Amino acid sequence: MFTRLHSTGIFGIDAYMVDVEADISNSFPSFEIVGLPDTAVKESRDRVRSALKNSGFSFPTTKITVNLAPADIKKAGSMYDLPSLLAILMASRQLNPTVNMEECAFIGELSLDGQLRHITGLLSMAIEAKTRGIKCFFVPEADAFEASVVDGIEIYPVSNVKQLVAHLQGEKTIRPAQKPDIKSSAAYCPDFFDVKGQTAAKKALEIAAAGGHNVLLIGPPGSGKSMLAKRLPSILPSMTFDESIETTKIHSVAGALSSDTPLIVTRPFRAPHHTVSAAGLSGGGIVPRPGEISLSHNGVLFLDEFPEFSRQAMEVLRAPIEDGKVTISRASGRLTYPCEFSLVAAMNPCPCGFFGHPKKKCICSPLAVKKYLGRISGPMLDRLDIHVEVPAVEYDELTGRSDGETSAEIKKRVERAREIQQNRYKGTKITCNARLDSANLQKYCVLTPDADRIMRTAFENLGLSARAYDRILKIARTVADLDGQEKIGATHIAQAIQFRSLDRKYWSEL
Ligand SMILES: Nc1ncnc2c1ncn2[C@@H]1O[C@H](COP(=O)(O)OP(=O)(O)O)[C@@H](O)[C@H]1O
Ligand SMILES: [Mg+2]
Ligand SMILES: [Zn+2]
Repeated sequence: MFTRLHSTGIFGIDAYMVDVEADISNSFPSFEIVGLPDTAVKESRDRVRSALKNSGFSFPTTKITVNLAPADIKKAGSMYDLPSLLAILMASRQLNPTVNMEECAFIGELSLDGQLRHITGLLSMAIEAKTRGIKCFFVPEADAFEASVVDGIEIYPVSNVKQLVAHLQGEKTIRPAQKPDIKSSAAYCPDFFDVKGQTAAKKALEIAAAGGHNVLLIGPPGSGKSMLAKRLPSILPSMTFDESIETTKIHSVAGALSSDTPLIVTRPFRAPHHTVSAAGLSGGGIVPRPGEISLSHNGVLFLDEFPEFSRQAMEVLRAPIEDGKVTISRASGRLTYPCEFSLVAAMNPCPCGFFGHPKKKCICSPLAVKKYLGRISGPMLDRLDIHVEVPAVEYDELTGRSDGETSAEIKKRVERAREIQQNRYKGTKITCNARLDSANLQKYCVLTPDADRIMRTAFENLGLSARAYDRILKIARTVADLDGQEKIGATHIAQAIQFRSLDRKYWSEL
């Protein structure tokens, strides 16, 4: 007898439907699974056989073939244990469902005693199942909460095979998972109000948030670089539902969702340590996982002590900064994960931290300073849009009252500037000023004659590279948007140039 059940698979963060078919025929006893990579087959076979027996059923002593279709996509084997087992039970008439199996999908890895184990990537799979008309999705109990954010599909938490069979035969029903209260899962984020002084750095982060630009913060230890970076998410525009879903999909695939956060509604803030490997940053590994750059998709990637990161780590960052996506090659093909993050890099200007400090003396040799700064390559420096100095705070400033604004006030300006950009780029692929390509720069960045004169002078006198010129235009575009001006004026250009002048202070003689 032949049966077919629905299941789902995942490649990268994209899910697809999988058919699990079982055929039982009266010939020499055997058990084959086709459509899985060879290594996974044996293990899956052993688990299915044991789980079936240990759940009180008899393993058919006939020829059993389980087929996972489509065969051309490489599947991770373990999550088809559950549908494979159910298909065998149905084909051998040990399970007689009273529910409409056409509307059901099943997924889950089994332990030998028939319990269901945690799997990753359920959010994407639940979305795909719903799109394909599945009404009831049976998933491991541990993962039900994650899948339950998807509307229009009932998610059934399953703890073991026996319980599921009882449900499918109408003997004892499983209650579908409750839809979570999404708003309550918004996390606390520190506020800019706590930061005293540092007007330039705050302005730089506001511009970065408004236009989606990257920032490099340079300053001595204790000046508040980490403090500032941690507050960037608090002024970024609120996440749209689509952004939430996309970010959550990545975290779901990476197995990085915490059990109390089914949907990520607060922009991620990732701060990997400088010892992180290149693969840890970009993604990859034997079982390919999204890296830190993808986990910070739609949020902030903070790289503290930037020069301490390995050369390879910096190297893998370069293309994704430009592209907003990262491609990982593996034996079974190439995987692409999105990674549109706001990069904040922070660094001391030298190994001891006090190079250029107005009061404290730097104890580093000129060569040591040069080597330290030199760890950030020219192309990398070019890709950091805004460079800003974070000087040591004066005592009076630190002990005085905050003159600062709250993050909510800054965020209002940021959101207004973003709205202007959305209107301007309607119907194009451009999402924010930082993502303007050089072909479109002239069209969208129109300078007043004054601004044009300043730009020309700067270009000629400061010896700017073409890339630096592009960056300045984009930043000036954002400054003008924050100012509500369609044409880029002299003050906008002047500010933008200022945010590209530190490389000359620190890197010029390198
Ligand atoms: N501008 C500032 N306003 C208020 N507190 C500050 C400021 N700068 C530094 N601090 C205090 O000093 C601590 C260390 O700052 P931190 O951000 O770690 O410095 P950095 O990363 O530049 O070494 C902060 O946790 C904060 O308590
Ligand atoms: Mg720090
Ligand atoms: Zn020093």
